[in-house]
Amino acid sequence: MAHRGASYTAPESTLPAIKTALESGIDYIELDVQWTKDEELVIFHDTNLLRLTNAKTVFPERENYELQNFTLEELKSLNYGAWFNISHPQRARDSYSQLTILTLEEVLDFVDPVNTGVGLALELKSPYLYEGIEKEIAAALEENEIFEAEAEPPRILFLSFSPAALQRLSELRPESPRILLTRRNFVSPRRWQGWLDITEEVADGIGPKGHVSFPWYIGAAHKRGLFVFPYVINRSWQLKIFSWFSADGYVTDRPELLTNFYNRVQEFGENVGELGGELLEEDEDSDGENEESAADDENRENNSN
Ligand code: G3P
Ligand code: CA
Repeated sequence: MAHRGASYTAPESTLPAIKTALESGIDYIELDVQWTKDEELVIFHDTNLLRLTNAKTVFPERENYELQNFTLEELKSLNYGAWFNISHPQRARDSYSQLTILTLEEVLDFVDPVNTGVGLALELKSPYLYEGIEKEIAAALEENEIFEAEAEPPRILFLSFSPAALQRLSELRPESPRILLTRRNFVSPRRWQGWLDITEEVADGIGPKGHVSFPWYIGAAHKRGLFVFPYVINRSWQLKIFSWFSADGYVTDRPELLTNFYNRVQEFGENVGELGGELLEEDEDSDGENEESAADDENRENNSN
């Protein structure tokens, strides 16, 4: 699952990030859905515009910069990629300084899950801010004739940190699998069982932060028939470890890393006895970029919470 598109390579949640993810051969593109002031569904991670846009320059008079207080037209007038060129000069592109926000409608059109076979993993971001958003998302999928009948794997997955939002989606669109996300870095086995209790009620799988993906956690979820998708996994050694621990899928900023990994799975299968030694080795491709990626994760976490 490509997290906010291929968000290591291109500005998160924008067309180049989605296009790069599509080209990587990934199964799903993960995107956060929110609602504008005029009730249009848009793709954006933060509830506030300041980290990723020039909203303060374009609208200096505004009291606050919460996305929910901006219309689609206002949001379309902002720039969504210039920050990336400044933060990541080694991956900067001139074209990134011209990017705009995408509506869910535009993404459905571009990704075309029915015909491309690439699914969408739609996260309901802060759904308590947007009463009724689940209904609108389900309606948009229906209007675009995106159904799950005979679709294998499913074309749409839903993710949320909110059990209540997932519960509502289970009633509106029961055929699309749901993943309950968990935020904590560390968790006791007892608390994990509590999370699994909730997950069983509202979802089909659980999305823990990578650190909470030890075999005894994944095994406990599997015992209840729940799948496990750790996030955000940006290093190949992490993929090796978590696949060894039987994770069912991964959320990554670097989809090319993941598809490359899966092409190599058979090779690992043949050498499974040697895998233990390999787990401790640093990724062969590591050239310092991975270190940066981990730092990015941390910054992003700090900035977006
Ligand atoms: O897929 C999991 C991940 O998207 C949840 O975290 O904050 O990046 O939306 P966040
Ligand atoms: Ca997300």
